[in-house]
Amino acid sequence: MEQFIFPSLSLFLLLSLSHFTTTLAQTPALPPAPTGPPNVVKILQKAGQFTIFLRLLGTTQVANQINGQLNDSNNGMTIFAPPDNAFSSLRSGALNSLTDEQKSALVQFHIVPTFLSITQFQTVSNPLRTQAGDAGSGQFPLNVTSSGSQVNISTGIVNTTVDNTIYTDNQLAVYQVDKVLLPLSIFGPHPPAPAPAPATTPKKKKEAAAATSPTAADTNTSGAVSLSLPMQAMVLVMSIGVAVYSSFVL
Ligand SMILES: *[C@@H]1O[C@H](CO)[C@@H](O)[C@H](O)[C@H]1NC(C)=O
Ligand SMILES: *[C@@H]1O[C@H](CO)[C@@H](O)[C@H](O)[C@H]1NC(C)=O
Ligand SMILES: *[C@@H]1O[C@H](CO)[C@@H](O)[C@H](O)[C@H]1NC(C)=O
Ligand SMILES: *[C@@H]1O[C@H](CO)[C@@H](O)[C@H](O)[C@H]1NC(C)=O
Ligand SMILES: *[C@@H]1O[C@H](CO)[C@@H](O)[C@H](O)[C@H]1NC(C)=O
Repeated sequence: MEQFIFPSLSLFLLLSLSHFTTTLAQTPALPPAPTGPPNVVKILQKAGQFTIFLRLLGTTQVANQINGQLNDSNNGMTIFAPPDNAFSSLRSGALNSLTDEQKSALVQFHIVPTFLSITQFQTVSNPLRTQAGDAGSGQFPLNVTSSGSQVNISTGIVNTTVDNTIYTDNQLAVYQVDKVLLPLSIFGPHPPAPAPAPATTPKKKKEAAAATSPTAADTNTSGAVSLSLPMQAMVLVMSIGVAVYSSFVL
């Protein structure tokens, strides 16, 4: 029986795999080039060295937002794109410790919802308003100082410089920046409290219940007891386990 199943199973896997690879090989056959706004993703892909920024643009859905905005508005857009080595020089885990919301804000902080040529940076007023919103101190301020073709950027945490024009037309400008633009509100000296640990979830649920139910105060105590019982049982089982283990070892 086994001898029969295994060859047919591997044959099946082999067939599915070859089907999968043919499907993959066929997908790059692109549809005819669409007309419309410039495609930021393609521009960055072509430029190379922007894989992390591209991944963030994708996972946060900001890429879609950009395309929609470029299509719908006449203000154009300016994007500051940090290359991969800018991300790799961040403190390790800096990106992974962010919530999805913070990742979106970080990406949006690299986008100004107006087209700015290099010379136009000399006349903008600080702080620049980015897609991340509130440019107030402590939130998402982005300041530029510019002289000739040199444009410096300060976020209050990092100072960097625009060192390469990747793309520009009269609608979209994409500039390479040396560093990831870290906004004060996420990376500042007093960042908001970290996301609550899963252990506090039951309490939050109770609070939500208390808000909606007038008798929640009565049920609070019993709720707390019934919730903590499984925990006590778990602690008990673990202690027994440790005791048994220790008695074996000693
Ligand atoms: C761009 O906008 C036009 C109408 O203004 C709409 O028909 C088209 O679907 C939009 N394209 C994209 C990619 O959003
Ligand atoms: C930009 O920064 C560099 C070094 O930090 C500095 O030498 C230069 O004067 C600055 N330029 C402007 C226009 O602020
Ligand atoms: C940005 O510029 C404004 C106005 O000049 C200033 O008040 C603010 O402190 C600056 N912020 C940063 C982060 O440089
Ligand atoms: C950024 O530049 C400003 C003035 O140009 C300076 O006061 C500040 O200390 C610099 N910040 C960092 C993090 O280098
Ligand atoms: C529920 O009990 C907790 C402590 O177990 C207490 O901090 C909280 O104030 C109580 N909530 C209500 C609505 O009584």
